[in-house]
This record gives sequence, C-alpha cells and structure tokens, in this order.
Amino acid sequence: MCGIVGYVGPSAASTFLLDGLRRLEYRGYDSAGIATQLASGAISLTKAVGRIDNLAAKLQPATSSGQIGIGHTRWATHGKPTEVNAHPHLGGEGEVVVVHNGVIENYAALREHLEADGYRFVSSTDTESVAHLIAYCLKQAEPHAKRLNEKHRHGILVEAVSQAVRQLRGTYGLAILFRDYPGVIIAARQGSPLVVGVGSGEHFLASDASPLAGRTDKIVYLADHQLAIITADSLQVEHRETGHVQHAIQALEIENTDVNLSGFPHYMLKEIYEQPESLENAMRGRLSDEDATAVFGGLNLSAQDLRRINRVILTACGTSWHAALVGEYLLEELARLPVEVEYASELRYRNPPVENGTLLFAITQSGETADTLAALREMKRKGHPTLAICNVVGSTIAQEANGGVYLHAGPEVGVASTKAYTSQVVTLTMLSLYFGRLRHLSFEAGTRIIGQLRALPQLIRETLHCHDEVKRIAEKYAHASNFLYLGRQYNFPTALEGALKLKEISYIHAEGYPAAEMKHGPIALVDEHTPSVFIMPQGPVYDKVMSNLEEIKARGGPVIAIAARGDSEVARLADDVIYVPEVTEMLSPLVNIVPLQLLAYHIALHRGCDVDKPRNLAKSVTVE
Ligand code: F6R
Repeated sequence: MCGIVGYVGPSAASTFLLDGLRRLEYRGYDSAGIATQLASGAISLTKAVGRIDNLAAKLQPATSSGQIGIGHTRWATHGKPTEVNAHPHLGGEGEVVVVHNGVIENYAALREHLEADGYRFVSSTDTESVAHLIAYCLKQAEPHAKRLNEKHRHGILVEAVSQAVRQLRGTYGLAILFRDYPGVIIAARQGSPLVVGVGSGEHFLASDASPLAGRTDKIVYLADHQLAIITADSLQVEHRETGHVQHAIQALEIENTDVNLSGFPHYMLKEIYEQPESLENAMRGRLSDEDATAVFGGLNLSAQDLRRINRVILTACGTSWHAALVGEYLLEELARLPVEVEYASELRYRNPPVENGTLLFAITQSGETADTLAALREMKRKGHPTLAICNVVGSTIAQEANGGVYLHAGPEVGVASTKAYTSQVVTLTMLSLYFGRLRHLSFEAGTRIIGQLRALPQLIRETLHCHDEVKRIAEKYAHASNFLYLGRQYNFPTALEGALKLKEISYIHAEGYPAAEMKHGPIALVDEHTPSVFIMPQGPVYDKVMSNLEEIKARGGPVIAIAARGDSEVARLADDVIYVPEVTEMLSPLVNIVPLQLLAYHIALHRGCDVDKPRNLAKSVTVE
C-alpha cells in the first residue's frame, strides 16, 4: 500500500507532490509527508497525520520552494499512524531521506544491527531501517566521492542503494534523496510498482501512472531489481546485479480524467448511480448478434487455444473475489467448464495440482493488488495461460497477464467497490457466453442472453428507484450491531458482497451466508436485535429461501427482503421489502446488489461514518 511521488525539474516540487499524493490517496490515507531539497542540499520536511489536506495546510514555506522532492501517503503496516511514523524517514544524521511502499520482513534484525552500530531510531516503522541501512552503505561506498565528477558521484549512490537493497527481505518501492548529493532522486523497486514520467527538463516519479496524467505522456515502467537515477535532465536505469539497462519510454495511455463529485455528496453514491453507464461501457462493442456471442480484442489466445481449455481458476481478493464466485456459477452453467474460485492470498502459497488446459483469470479493479499479482505470477511461472479482468488501464496485473479484458468502468474513487463489481460480473457473464458459444451453447441461447444483457442498464436505472425506500429502511435498522445476509445459488455471492459493503463502511458486524447453511450455526445469532437481509429473486430456489426466511421469523429475527416486483408472498412475512425489477436468475446478482450498496451507504451515513474513506482501509492493497 502507500503511495509514492517524486519530482525534479524547474518548478516547485511541492505542487506536483501534493497533487500526485491526492491522486494516490486511494492507496492509503492515514498520514502523509513530503521532503524537498534546495540547491544547497538542505532538506525541508513536512509531515501530517490524516489526509493530504492536513499536510497541505501544514506545508512549511521552505518545503514549498525546493525544486526536487519526494512524498508519501501512508497506510500503516508497522507502527501506528502518527507523525513520527509518517514518511519520509531520515537515515544516518539526516543525510539520507526515504519514502517506501511495501513491507520489509527482516526490518527487526536490520534494526538490531544498525542500533548496535550507533544508528538512532525514532519511529516504529520498517522503513526507518532502510533509511539507516542506506546511510550505512553510503558511508562504506563514499570515501572518495568528494573528488569525483557528477556521473561517478551518482555511481556511489547506486552502489550504496544496491548494497542496501540486497540485504532487504520483502517488498519495496523506494524513492531516496541525499542531503550531500543535491539534484538527484534514486528510485528502487522490488514487488511494489514504480513509474517514471519523462517531461521536458523534468522527471516525475510515482507508484502508479495516475499522478502523471496531464503532466506528461511519456512513461517508463521500472521492473523488479531495477534502480533509476533521476535528475531534471536525465534518467538512467540500472539493474542492481547486471548494471546498465536500456529503458523503454512508452506512451502513457490514461486520460487526465477530472474526477469530481458531479453534485453527489459522496463518490460511493455517484458510483452506485453510474452503474447503468458503466455496464453499458463494459458491453460496448462486445456483443455480436451475428454470431450470438461476445467478442474480445485482447485475450491474445486463439479460439482454438481457448477450446482446449478444460478448467478455469478464478482468483481475486475481497469484492473482486465475490465477483469471481458469481463467475463460477456463470461459467459452469453457460460454458459447462469446471471452475475453482481461489482467494489469491491462499493460491499464491498453495501448491495445488493444476493440469494442462487450465486457464487462470485474475480479477481486480486496481490491477495492483499484491496477492492477486503474486497468484498470477505463480501460475504463469508454472506455464498456465493467464488473463486479467481489470479496470485500471496499464496497471501491473494488466501488463503482466498474457491478455485480458478491461472493465471500462472509469475511475472508482470510493474505497468500497460498487461499479467495478457490477462491471466485473457483467464481464464474466460475457466471457461465459463466449466460452459457451465456443463449446455447447446454442445460437438461440446466445441470442437470448445478448438480449437480456442489452436490457440490463435500463433495469439498473429502474432498480435505483428503490433509493428512498432503502433510505427509510436504513434509518430503521442503523442502530443494529449485527446483520446476517442470506441468499442462495447466484445470490449467495450477493449476500457476501452486501455484508462486506455494510461492514467496511458502517463498521457493523455482518455475515454473508448461503441461506440454508445458516441453520448449521449462525442461526444461534438470531434474536430481535439482529436483522437478516434475504436476497430472494424468483427462480428455482425461491421456495427454499422462503422456508429459511420463516425459520428466522419463527425465532423473532427482523427480516428485510430484496424481492422481485410483484412478489406479494414475501410481504406477508418480511418486516420490510425492497422491490427490484424481475430479471433472469443468472443476471439477478447485478440487480440485487444495488439496494444492498444503497443500504450500506445510508446506514453508514446515519452512523456518521466516512463513507468514501472508511477507517483502516485503502483502495488498493499493495502489500500481502
Ligand atoms: C471492497 C473492496 C476490496 C477490493 C479488494 C481487491 O469494497 O473494494 O475488497 O475488492 O481489495 O481489490 P482489487 O479489485 O483492486 O484487486
């Protein structure tokens, strides 16, 4: 997690640093800091707990004036979110200044050695060990530095940083300033992305491309084990073991989208309301009436290759994992393919037998989730084809997969994922249609599914009409401390996702369960203070879910039901019903999740929670 920025050029560095950090705030927002350097070498440091706005308000005039600097927005891993633990951290006597993204696993051992050598630690972070270690290595490398020209002086810095990072275990994206070597930033990466934006007489550094939009359209992606030596006029890339690397400057593909609230009070609400359009964008140009199938440009696998696939693994984290669960039902039903859904964090360390003909899909909004990336790499290493279902164009996972499908959902700013989730599910539906049509699915069935998909955006628009009713119900139940979310088949993942939305933004404990499984334990939680949210569209398991609902009512539990319009039976038993348009069971997760997103939103709002930036979370989880 955490976001890194850097700048060197003719302008005041703090302008880009603050703007860049705001764009990276989704990676963590518990504290932030920037350091700039004057031509004399003097370093000016400003740090603040909380959001970037707090940092901007505290900015020292000296920090504002430097033309080279580095900055950081933090999601705490080691040490509480305090000012002293905020980055940048100083190494030695302040001669090294470091910001870091990632986790250093052997920081405690390093700290012990460095403390024994007289280095004084002030924070409880893993990063401070890196700062002191670089200072230590610099001391070893530099006896003759004063007599060298600039190029060779930079060589000393590369040697010191290389020596230091060789001793690190874990992941890092680092940006480093040196008090005694003004005008240069050294960046280093292992497992945590870093990019350099190439401008005219200036360079930008960031942990992803988003801060570069509108600044430059030339980008260099650093690879693991690489170091970059960045000055205003030059960029040099070195491999820490093999030396000079000829770096490729690529065209930056992202637009400088000005993400504003467009009159909505929160991004989450705006993004819930954007779903009709984001679904349209996910489907645009991808449905073919002629062949009754979906078409994708970037799979980079031929139809022949794909016909040979006989097993699919879907891997993801969090909300994206819930989308994968819906995908399992879809791929099994439409394509008759055996599917396994794996938490990426588990898959990366397991060693499951995976036979030839297995295809991996990594599903991710950000394209930067560390566990998903690691699972993808592990499967690639074993020779399996990998495809990404991803929202952020040019992200690490999008680049490393063999091919994939972009969601085109547009930037998702709210930390709780909403529109990316529905775009993932609709993309998985199209992929299932595509795989189905390669295998057993008839032309008629394909045509029917395409018709249903085309009708979907309008159905979501109609679903949003439940907003006022959901708000009323949210206020009624906002005081509860526990919720159960229950659904079956396609809507078991909806129950999981509804529960996750509630817990992450309202801090209410909520459990999603398959409705029938509830009898095997969670029913013990049911009492008059514990509401159960039932997702019960019309379909083959409707009567079964109704029996589960009766079991809850028999024990005095309040029930909120999400049901299809015209269902009068459910109103007899449930305390509150939220009606949504009737839709085929296969597509019902897309409709049913909308009232649950709104329910979580209004309950959180009623409890005074920060809906867009819930505590302890970050939008992109780049540590394992
Ligand atoms: C919850 C949420 C997270 C993410 C998870 C994976 O609302 O957003 O659970 O889904 O961290 O993130 P991505 O999809 O970026 O890999």
